[in-house]
Amino acid sequence: MRRFETLLNELPATPRTWLITGVAGFIGSNLLEALLRLDQRVVGLDNFATGHARNLDEVRSLVTDEQWSRFHFIPGDIRQPNDCRMACEGVDYVLHQAALGSVPRSIEDPVTTNATNITGFLNMLVAARDARVQSFVYAASSSTYGDHPALPKQEDVIGKPLSPYAVTKYVNELYAEVFARTYDFASIGLRYFNVFGKRQDPNGAYAAVIPRWAAAMIGNQDIHINGDGETSRDFCYIDNTVQANLLAATITEPAARNQVYNVAVGARTTLNQLFCTLKTALENNGVAYSRPPLYRDFRPGDVRHSLADIGKARRLLDYAPGFEIARGIEAAMPWYMDFLKAGQVQGSPRK
Ligand SMILES: NC(=O)c1ccc[n+]([C@@H]2O[C@H](COP(=O)([O-])OP(=O)(O)OC[C@H]3O[C@@H](n4cnc5c(N)ncnc54)[C@H](O)[C@@H]3O)[C@@H](O)[C@H]2O)c1
Repeated sequence: MRRFETLLNELPATPRTWLITGVAGFIGSNLLEALLRLDQRVVGLDNFATGHARNLDEVRSLVTDEQWSRFHFIPGDIRQPNDCRMACEGVDYVLHQAALGSVPRSIEDPVTTNATNITGFLNMLVAARDARVQSFVYAASSSTYGDHPALPKQEDVIGKPLSPYAVTKYVNELYAEVFARTYDFASIGLRYFNVFGKRQDPNGAYAAVIPRWAAAMIGNQDIHINGDGETSRDFCYIDNTVQANLLAATITEPAARNQVYNVAVGARTTLNQLFCTLKTALENNGVAYSRPPLYRDFRPGDVRHSLADIGKARRLLDYAPGFEIARGIEAAMPWYMDFLKAGQVQGSPRK
């Protein structure tokens, strides 16, 4: 039996206390849903900088009242050491997701990105160390590969960062390593590669490509492709990401701790292919989209190609992603259709 299956069977009988920072965001709220469904106790911290109360409301509607009663939400900010300290009290496992995502946001406002992603991260490390939590898993990023041309990406071969966001995520890894060496505090960094799925925000200037395009297509608006459409990504459905977090938090083998891992599928999809996949998923849901995509300039700071080697996570964590991109998009599409029907998409998505 795979480690993840064993974990799903064992966790409900041995509930732990998990802290999810960024719990009102896309990945955080999906982690919350998975853990509550497994009868775990969850503490959540968020300042709603980019997350939404509606994500927490949705999770509440998907679990039983008893499961929901095991969730304790702390409105707070990781830039405040006291908030981090409070959140870590009595916690077994930390899943640190809170950060300001988006390369363009970091280019426009590097100072706020730095404060949240570096100072906030450091505050969380200190609080988790002092609370003696059993494990600390944090959201790292594929942006750490920067300008290194090698494909597929292997964890120890990285280039120079291409954006302030990439700097912050790399600094997280450096701090994590130093905390292991200096304080014997173990952690695991998960380098996410373009995660997508339900509750990923389609709104705002910094929305990710899949929810932005899905919303535009459902609303019969134009799709803009930055560059020639041959830019490629290793898109990773949220359930794979949730699996990686649970596996990482509970691993006890010393060789698997104090590591960073790629979390992806290990397959590359171009933006042109993504456009076709989304169109097909929409057609399968009864929506025809006939506009051709509109091409425009490349976006500064973007990596040209991204493809993960997931061998290390497979080997040391027994990570086995169950969803490739088309299956993930099929799974996520009904959520976007419902979201749009509920009138949640604001105006026209990003230019
Ligand atoms: N989505 C992806 O494809 C992807 C890829 C690589 C890395 N990541 C990382 O994964 C993590 C989660 O990303 P996401 O896609 O769920 O983004 P998200 O914006 O949906 O979630 C981030 C959450 O953190 C909260 N937050 C931000 N600043 C905070 C602060 N100062 N104090 C407390 N809470 C704060 C936000 O309100 C939000 O709820 C981030 O660390 C991000 O950098 C995401």
